[in-house]
Amino acid sequence: MKVFVYHTPELTPTERMPDCAIAVDVLRATSTIATALNAGAEAVQAFSDLNKLMEVSASWPADKRLRAGERGGSQVEGCDMGNSPLDCTPERVAGRRLFITTTNGTRALQRVQSAPAVLAAALINRQAVVQYLRDRQPETIWILGSGWEGSYSLEDTICAGAIVDRLLSETNTEPRDIAGNDEAIGSLALYRQWDRDLLSLMYLASHGQRLLRLQRDEDLKYCAQTDVLDVVPIQKEPGVLVKL
Ligand code: MLT
Repeated sequence: MKVFVYHTPELTPTERMPDCAIAVDVLRATSTIATALNAGAEAVQAFSDLNKLMEVSASWPADKRLRAGERGGSQVEGCDMGNSPLDCTPERVAGRRLFITTTNGTRALQRVQSAPAVLAAALINRQAVVQYLRDRQPETIWILGSGWEGSYSLEDTICAGAIVDRLLSETNTEPRDIAGNDEAIGSLALYRQWDRDLLSLMYLASHGQRLLRLQRDEDLKYCAQTDVLDVVPIQKEPGVLVKL
C-alpha cells in the first residue's frame, strides 16, 4: 500500500485515480456522513450544487428524505437541517436518505467519485477506515482533505495523519514503506504533535474558529473524538454513500 495525502480537492491530480480514495472533512461533512449512516440513514447522497440536490431529492418520498444544506457554516434556507453531526440522531435519520450539500466536503467527494473505492473518513471513524484498508490492502490510497474554498485545513490534515499513524501500527510498517508523498509524512508529523489534544487543535483551526463564532462548540467537541464510530461510509454509486 502507498498512501498519498492531498490537502485540498484542487491539489488532487485529475489525470488518474487511485485504487481507493478517502475524502476527509472533519469539520464537518464527513463527520456528519459517518454519524448519519451509523444512526441508520438508508444512504447519504452528496451534491456540490444545491439546485441539483433540490431537483433530485424532489423525486424521493418526502417521509424518506432529509435535506441538509450548509454554506459558510450556516444552514441553507429551504433545507431540513444544516451540517451538524449532532442533528443526525436515529430518531431523525433512520431509514431516510440524507441529501447533503456543503461548502467543501461534498466537492471533495465529487472530485474522486470515479475511483473504484471511495470512502468518507473523519476522526470519529478513523479506526474503522484503517481496518478496511488493512483488510483490503488497496495498492494506491489517496487521502483527500476538503480544505476551505481551495485552501488548506489543519483538521483534515490531522485526520490524514491519524489514518497514516494507525495504518503504520496495524501493519507494523515504517513511514518510508507506505508514504507515497511528502504530504503523507507531514500529516503524520502534525498528528503526532497534536494527538493528545485534538480539541485544542480544533479551536486553533480557522474553520474551528468560524464554527465557534456560530456557537457550534458542541460540534467541535464531537468531531475531535477519535474512533468512536464503527462505520465505513463507502460509495455504492457516484455520489451515494452507504454503510459498508
Ligand atoms: C464544508 O463542507 O465546508 C464543511 O463541512 C462546512 C461545515 O462545517 O459545515
